[in-house]
Amino acid sequence: MSNPAIRTVYLNGAFLPENEAHISIFDRGFLFGDGIYEVTAVLEGKLVDSPLHMARLERSVGEIGGFLPISTDEIVEIERRLITENGLVEGMIYLQYTRGAEDRNFFYSKDLQPTLLLFTQSKKLDVASVMETGLKVKTVPDQRWERRDIKSVCLLPQVLAKRIAKEAGCDEAWMVEDGFVTEGASSTAYIITADDKIVTRANSNMTLPGCTRLAVLDLAREHGLTIEERPFTVEEALNAREAALTSASNFIVPITEIDGKAIGGGKPGPMIARLRVLYMDNARKTAV
Ligand code: PDD
Repeated sequence: MSNPAIRTVYLNGAFLPENEAHISIFDRGFLFGDGIYEVTAVLEGKLVDSPLHMARLERSVGEIGGFLPISTDEIVEIERRLITENGLVEGMIYLQYTRGAEDRNFFYSKDLQPTLLLFTQSKKLDVASVMETGLKVKTVPDQRWERRDIKSVCLLPQVLAKRIAKEAGCDEAWMVEDGFVTEGASSTAYIITADDKIVTRANSNMTLPGCTRLAVLDLAREHGLTIEERPFTVEEALNAREAALTSASNFIVPITEIDGKAIGGGKPGPMIARLRVLYMDNARKTAV
């Protein structure tokens, strides 16, 4: 599973070899982090949870007072073409929208033409071994702003959180505020209680509304599982029966260690295994 030597990417209306796609040094995404992104998983050459990602993209762009230069239907067509041209079977499509390029100025022109970039990234996402071992998490302070519901390209706090996690030999950072876990650096956080309740934060401006979260919770509800949308503390997580994270790039995976302490005896538990099967079946069935 690898990328072609030179991928075809999409930039502002054109399909180009990756080494011929250039963005202005005056692009506001580069100068101000004035942009939005989306990551959509690709399985068997198809887009997973595509309508959810397109809806969130539209919302994020709207929240920063921007506008998409083309429709989300046209974006999905571009994504399909990139999958075909790059022979992508499994991996991700990355989309980045920025407000556009003009001389540096905090104020922006109303008629500025946005930048729209999409590229594919080949990667094995459905990794069976993770379901055997689980992931390790390190808790770190949440140092982000108060509009985390916007999928902003300003990811420095997450980059630094991941660095701390990696240095501690962990796979993901869980960000903590006032003793409560907000979410992972690039994922949604869950615990399973002793009485089998699925606990995760309700959506608000304090976390990113995960597309995988939405799909997983819908499936859990359909199957009569109990969900509690509320914050949980690090203490509660350390004593939980199971823990997990969801994201477009991991789907749903168990967490077996938090800050060096084994969760659920250090082994993935049955609830997350069940949710994984439900999610993967549905993801493949509904992929476009
Ligand atoms: N990250 N929370 C944060 C802060 C995230 O960055 C992400 C996704 C999620 C999960 O959202 P979803 O299920 O829609 O992927 C939650 C992507 C994968 C990334 O930055 O690569």
